[in-house]
Amino acid sequence: MRTQVAIVGAGPAGLTLAQLLHVAGIDSVVLEARSRDYVEARIRAGVLEHDVAELFVQAGVGERVRREGLVHTGVELQSGRERHRVAFDELTGRTIVVYGQTEVVKDLIAARLESGRPLLFDVEDVSLHDLESERPRVRFAHEGAEEELECEFVAGCDGFHGVSRPSVPAGILREFHREYPYGWLGILAAVAPSSDELVYAHTERGFALLSMRSPELSRLYLQCAPDEDLELWPDERIWEELQERLGVDGWTLHEGPILEKGVTPMRSFVVEPMQWRRLYLAGDAAHIVPPTGAKGLNLAVRDVAALAEALVAWYRDGHVALLEAYSETCLRRVWRAEHFSWWMTTMLHRAPEDDEFTLRLQQSQLRYLRTSRVAATSLAENYVGIEHA
Ligand code: APR
Ligand code: PHB
Repeated sequence: MRTQVAIVGAGPAGLTLAQLLHVAGIDSVVLEARSRDYVEARIRAGVLEHDVAELFVQAGVGERVRREGLVHTGVELQSGRERHRVAFDELTGRTIVVYGQTEVVKDLIAARLESGRPLLFDVEDVSLHDLESERPRVRFAHEGAEEELECEFVAGCDGFHGVSRPSVPAGILREFHREYPYGWLGILAAVAPSSDELVYAHTERGFALLSMRSPELSRLYLQCAPDEDLELWPDERIWEELQERLGVDGWTLHEGPILEKGVTPMRSFVVEPMQWRRLYLAGDAAHIVPPTGAKGLNLAVRDVAALAEALVAWYRDGHVALLEAYSETCLRRVWRAEHFSWWMTTMLHRAPEDDEFTLRLQQSQLRYLRTSRVAATSLAENYVGIEHA
């Protein structure tokens, strides 16, 4: 088997890259460890920066995003029992689109199948070879047979636990980590969202977030322990706690059947550089952000947009400059999002060891966001996405 670009992983990063390359006439093979059903059922993030939604439209996979995506012009920040709106459109002239990552992945898989180019699910034992040569090879097993794929570039889009990053020889990559002493308990509920916009709530009981997937589906999160036992959270207790944290006078949180629940730990992670020889890392393979700033999916898509542009410049015009600049270009944007996500997270969560001093700092920061247009604009600009960080 031969191709131009071997793409490891069919999450948003790998699938978006495959589509961008297809549109430019560049051949690729996508290798995914899981089944199509598994990948399409995984419930993940749900906020697209306007430019990311637009990128899907331009790449020919934005028809449903455009039709079903909910355009939001702001979010609500709640401190105790008071809410304050941050108006993205007014402050930055830009908006966001609420549309599930799960739906993005379904749209991309449908487009890939339509393109007729290869996307292999359920591949096993993926290993990368000869990355330092001009003809890297990817070995894997598929449907009981050992396969070898010869390529010109490898895109490591296989997430935090993938094989790509560990395939770089020791001593080349530098890793930066931060763990948080909390996680999110997330639910998907069959009830109309109780608010038109997202609500990020800071309370003395911990953080809560009201989000949504459609006019009929609510998505809600509660700060919990990183290893919280879901057994301890029957549906009634989840709703009770959400009522406590999100409750404000004159507003009702509507409850409904819980369709899905799960616990996500939180971490920050960055690897530098994001490239070694013919291997280019993108998305969660290269960086993780805690979900509070809604940046994970957007970063992944922007990485592969930069990579696709660089590969097109190489294949069309023989220009190597963009490929050489890939890691630096991405890392500028990544570190801005890392800071923003860390800042939103530590401003809004209560860590078990936090003292009253920390609480007062958080309250002061939230008050500053309510009273200063400059402070609110900074949050808004980061949330809607900074093009050139
Ligand atoms: N071989 C092939 N595929 C693999 C391997 C492997 N060894 N290891 C992992 N994968 C696959 C996973 O099964 C997954 O489908 O790689 C894919 C990686 O996808 P994601 O984890 O969704 O990562 P990415 O595409 O970078 O998207 C980042 O996902 O986790 C969210 O918040 C994050 O929104 C962000 C987005
Ligand atoms: C979501 O809807 O899943 C969501 C929204 C905003 C976030 C994180 C997750 O910051």
